[in-house]
This record gives sequence, C-alpha cells and structure tokens, in this order.
Amino acid sequence: MPVTMPVTLKVNGKDRPLSLDPRTTLLDALREHLHLSGTKKGCDHGQCGACTVLVNGQRINSCLSLALQHDGDAITTIEGLGTPDKLHPMQAAFVRHDGYQCGYCTPGQICSAVAVLDEIRAGVPSHVQADLMARPQASNIEMRERMSGNICRCGAYSNIADAMADVAGAKA
Ligand code: FES
Ligand code: FES
Repeated sequence: MPVTMPVTLKVNGKDRPLSLDPRTTLLDALREHLHLSGTKKGCDHGQCGACTVLVNGQRINSCLSLALQHDGDAITTIEGLGTPDKLHPMQAAFVRHDGYQCGYCTPGQICSAVAVLDEIRAGVPSHVQADLMARPQASNIEMRERMSGNICRCGAYSNIADAMADVAGAKA
C-alpha cells in the first residue's frame, strides 16, 4: 500500500485538503487529484511552461515542484484567474489579439503573462512604470525575454506579445 501524506493546498481561494504520495508533483495534484485540467502537461520536465501556475503570486512550473512543498500556499490556476462570464483582462486580451491557435500552451502563457507584468512593475520604480509600459519597444523586449520559458508550438508569439502590451498599456 503506497504511503500518503496530508497536504492542504489553497487553490483558487479554497482550501483543498489532500492525501498524496509524497512524489506527487503539484501539476499532477491539480490535474489528477483536483481535476483542474486547465493546467497542461507538456514536457513534464520544466522545458515548455505549459504547466505554469501562480504560487503566492509568483509563477512556477508546477511539473518541477512537489505538491507537499506547497502546504498552505495560495495556488492560482487558469480556472481561478477569470470565468467565462468575467474574463481576467489578460484572458480577454488573448481573445482580442488571437493569442493562441490550438490553445494547449495558452493557460500557461496567460498565467505567466500575468506574473510577468507584475515582475516588470516590481522591478521598476513607480515613477517610471507608466512610462515603461507606455513605450511598446522597451516593454516588448522585456516581456518577450521574460516569456521565453513558455513555448508555443503554434508560433503565436507575436500575438501573445500584443496581448500583453495591450494589458500593460491599459494598466499604465
Ligand atoms: Fe512543466 Fe513542460 S510540463 S515545463
Ligand atoms: Fe498551440 Fe501555443 S497555441 S501550442
């Protein structure tokens, strides 16, 4: 009989107690145990970014992290960012700018994109934030570099960058 250990993940605002094999990744806990299949498994080795989720507001590859390491952590998946009736601004921008084709990478791209804009803002003094976000070339280079861990086999990169620039501009 496999050994299991208790862990409580706070997923999309709700406590989700689980009893897991200690080897279970956060990705498998979300998909296989909590049935939140929005988070995708691509490579399962930290190479593609399809499994990106937010942990306490920061993005991680959930395939590289054990669920037991996240007891009490706030996990946000694509299902927690917005709803079909009330999309998150980044989700709405991806729709507006056609930021996907097959859609397999999209949940990870959107979670990453939300975190990237926060990362850029956090690293820039507040008095120049609006200026940075308003300068498409500077912010585009920074955003593209920070999104380089999210692979899109369909090549929707330029539309994804447009969607992010749109959100960045709207918030600036
Ligand atoms: Fe996690 Fe590819 S599935 S990085
Ligand atoms: Fe198909 Fe990105 S939209 S892999």
